[in-house]
Amino acid sequence: MCGLIGYVGDEPAAAVLSGALARLEYRGYDSAGVAILNDGIIILAKDKGKLADVIKACKIDTLVGHVGIGHTRWATHGGVTKENAHPHCDDKNQIAVVHNGIIENCVELRARLSRKYKFISDTDTEVIPHLIREYIDSGLTFERAVFAAARELKGSYAILAVSMLEPEKVVAVRKESPLVIGLGVKSNYIGSDALSFLPYTKNVIFLEDNERAVITKDKVTVYNEDHEELTQKVTQIQWEWKAGTKGNYDYYMLKEIEEQPQVIRQSIMQDNNLINRMAIEILRARQVVFVGCGSSRNAALIGRYAFSKIGHVFSDVILGSEFGYFSESVDKRTLVIALSQSGETADVLDGVKQAKTNGATVFSLVNVAGSSLARMSDKVLCLNGGPEIGVAATKSFMAELCLLYLLAFAMDGTLEKGRGMLRDVSDLVEADLPRHSSRIPGIANRLKEREDFYFLARGINFAMAGEGALKLKEISYVHAEGMPAGELKHGTLALIDNGTPVVVICPTDYTFTDTITNIMEAKARGAHIIGISNSAESVFNDCIMISKVDEVLYPLVTTIPLQLLAYHSALARGLDPDKPRNLAKSVTVK
Ligand code: F6R
Repeated sequence: MCGLIGYVGDEPAAAVLSGALARLEYRGYDSAGVAILNDGIIILAKDKGKLADVIKACKIDTLVGHVGIGHTRWATHGGVTKENAHPHCDDKNQIAVVHNGIIENCVELRARLSRKYKFISDTDTEVIPHLIREYIDSGLTFERAVFAAARELKGSYAILAVSMLEPEKVVAVRKESPLVIGLGVKSNYIGSDALSFLPYTKNVIFLEDNERAVITKDKVTVYNEDHEELTQKVTQIQWEWKAGTKGNYDYYMLKEIEEQPQVIRQSIMQDNNLINRMAIEILRARQVVFVGCGSSRNAALIGRYAFSKIGHVFSDVILGSEFGYFSESVDKRTLVIALSQSGETADVLDGVKQAKTNGATVFSLVNVAGSSLARMSDKVLCLNGGPEIGVAATKSFMAELCLLYLLAFAMDGTLEKGRGMLRDVSDLVEADLPRHSSRIPGIANRLKEREDFYFLARGINFAMAGEGALKLKEISYVHAEGMPAGELKHGTLALIDNGTPVVVICPTDYTFTDTITNIMEAKARGAHIIGISNSAESVFNDCIMISKVDEVLYPLVTTIPLQLLAYHSALARGLDPDKPRNLAKSVTVK
């Protein structure tokens, strides 16, 4: 959700910023831009469109200078236009600002500032450079003016600002949107995530809410809201930046799908003591509530079945954006388990803050170590999935499932046996891959004209129906609904017509017989049935065969075929699966 980068050092800023923006592009890709300081003036280059096109059209590679800021946009306020692209400047072009988040009081601020300064965009962000200008005009230095402006802003923000008045520095402020400082040699960086500058340094400082920073080539200074200098907590990032590259693949999504057998093996390498301590707390809690959004929420729904079936604990799942509405029922005997790939999803962070205020204990399952969610949790399990760049969640979903199963096995006192079962499944998932890769493109191609898909399943597989539908919607832009198979006859059956594609997840487990009955009902109305099963049933028009596994573990073997169906459907429709329209990977706004 908008990617920011700032750089001060000996290297040409244009090259550093362009590379960093490419690594941040998964956060937003409707427009991009940079502001680079050269010889005491700000050179602004920005436009709408994908980063590579903007770099080319604006000749960003040719810009000279060693200090700069850059931005990839995911539009919130104002359409996708050149004027609305970041950076935004003040009237005199002396200050340039990039921003991620939402300024909630932008209407009032704009009304006041537009009496003095000319606005040229529709964004909420543009109030920031004008506000900084107002403070400079009242006598403050640039640095102090940025901090004073931040005090007036309501909402969430990560802001980077540069000015020709103090051309050797990038000034940063953060509230509820991530910012990470990278410490280099004769160069320093600040970005929305550490991946942006990972080729240069692994030594980072995570800014906390309401902290500010001043970054020069030789020095980084971090302040609290009262402008007191803070002791810096430097940590080391474990990821290798090469893990975040596409390698020989055309798309990140396919690479990340195919990494999943290995991701299962990596994700289950967890500290036994930690898992067992967490399991004991789960068993002792008065109530256990999962919180997550999108695919992470679907993983939580599967976790709910696994906790019940394996760990004998009843739990509930609440969407991040709805969590606050249950605050009356959350107290210090509540255990909240938050799931998030990014650890920065605003709706999840909001829910977790509410839970903490009410005294609840918070465990989190996150992929990005050091993320906001990880830092605010009482106990954290890292997914160990490596960087996930494709916008659609794939390997992070798989890793979340594995950790939920591990916790469930630990609750049952069978952690080691369970880990062995998960390891065995990783081999079966690997063995299934070539078959899926040859079978699924043909199915996707045959169905490429269809605009409505239904996904059905029961029991622990039901959330896989939701996950399959979500993947298809987000990257293929077709309407898809996932639902418990038993619900079909309660209304949705009216939509089934001749040739309507119905994807059914029905391994020969405890859900099999009832699911087959529901498919018969759909088939009788003309549905085209795509079965995902370990048994080739005659009711299927198309069959995607999966390996037979223990019946609680089927979600692990149905994940990849559903992801590949969505991936190949996107390709069959001529779409870029890595950059679906209107979406961004890290959703840092409410
Ligand atoms: C779906 C997808 C999204 C995310 C959701 C939560 O493919 O990617 O639905 O799952 O935005 O993101 P995290 O897990 O980062 O909190």
